[in-house]
Amino acid sequence: MNLLEQIEPMKQAALAELRGAQDLAALEQARVNHLGSHGKFTALMKQLGTLSKEEKPAAGKAINTAKVELEASLAERRAELELSAALPKEPTDFTLPGRRRVVGKLHPLTQVTEDIVRSFRKIGFVVADGPEIEDEYHCFDALNTPADHPARDMQDTFYLQAAHDSGLRTQNSGLLLRTHTSSVQIRVMQKQRPPVRIIVPGRVYRRDNADATHNPTFHQVEGLYVDRHVTVGDLKGTVEFVFKELMGSETRIRFRPHYFSYTEPSFEIDFSSALTRKMGKEWLEIAGCGMVHPQVFENVGYDPEVWTGWAFGFGIERIAMIRYGINDIRLFYENDVRFLKQF
Ligand code: DAH
Repeated sequence: MNLLEQIEPMKQAALAELRGAQDLAALEQARVNHLGSHGKFTALMKQLGTLSKEEKPAAGKAINTAKVELEASLAERRAELELSAALPKEPTDFTLPGRRRVVGKLHPLTQVTEDIVRSFRKIGFVVADGPEIEDEYHCFDALNTPADHPARDMQDTFYLQAAHDSGLRTQNSGLLLRTHTSSVQIRVMQKQRPPVRIIVPGRVYRRDNADATHNPTFHQVEGLYVDRHVTVGDLKGTVEFVFKELMGSETRIRFRPHYFSYTEPSFEIDFSSALTRKMGKEWLEIAGCGMVHPQVFENVGYDPEVWTGWAFGFGIERIAMIRYGINDIRLFYENDVRFLKQF
């Protein structure tokens, strides 16, 4: 059989093996068998040189055409096998919905805190913070809160035993988990001269048993404004502005006389809105506030004859509960995604 006649059967054999390959390894083996440097088809090409001048062009052309066909067939089968290797082995329903990537979101308490901070920023307040492990001086004494005040009781407050034992306890100033963010008022005023315009969102601790409205850890926002000629009118206007932003523009607030040792006069703030009416009440108590007590100014070295100011504090959980109609404070801390997803 001359060379020209061998081409067609050899091509057919190669095609059969390439097309019949059941996986990529078999295909590679078929390629090596026929088109590799020691392959059968390659051997045929090498024989071209032995042909006479007359035979060469026709045989050369036929071989090249066949080679192009084999290479195309190889590429086609490779693409088929690669695709089927990538497909799932199990029967698959491609009409099923895809797996969605779950995007996280901010905790409702963080969202409310950010809203509060945003409102205060609009009127020139900046965020300050202080330590959660606090000393009795900043938490109580400097705030004019006497040693016999119930907030200082071991039963109401978490004192740090280690500090007690190790002598870290400075005279008359044990360490405790802060019971309110008011301690940061003192820390800021000790560090800077007036005017002061701060809010302090933060975590606080009390020895309360957890129930629907109490938790040993919760969050507060403290506000402090110190300047010349600050009045209760400034306090009321500020509180009204912020609560309208937080709870809706028809929100009303009222002040009731109260007692806090670090303010004089002191008030409790009630507010009224569609939200309170939904809870079956016209007025709900929401915050404590007052004009900074002269003794507090003395304690931080501000002259009470020159400087005036107000302060307030309220619970972030309480705001969030009223706003979203949540009836159990413990839901905030359980991290159940079915709850968290709703905000
Ligand atoms: N510290 C108070 C509390 O935890 C809240 C408070 C009341 C803060 C009056 C103040 C204030 O700054 O002036 O209940």
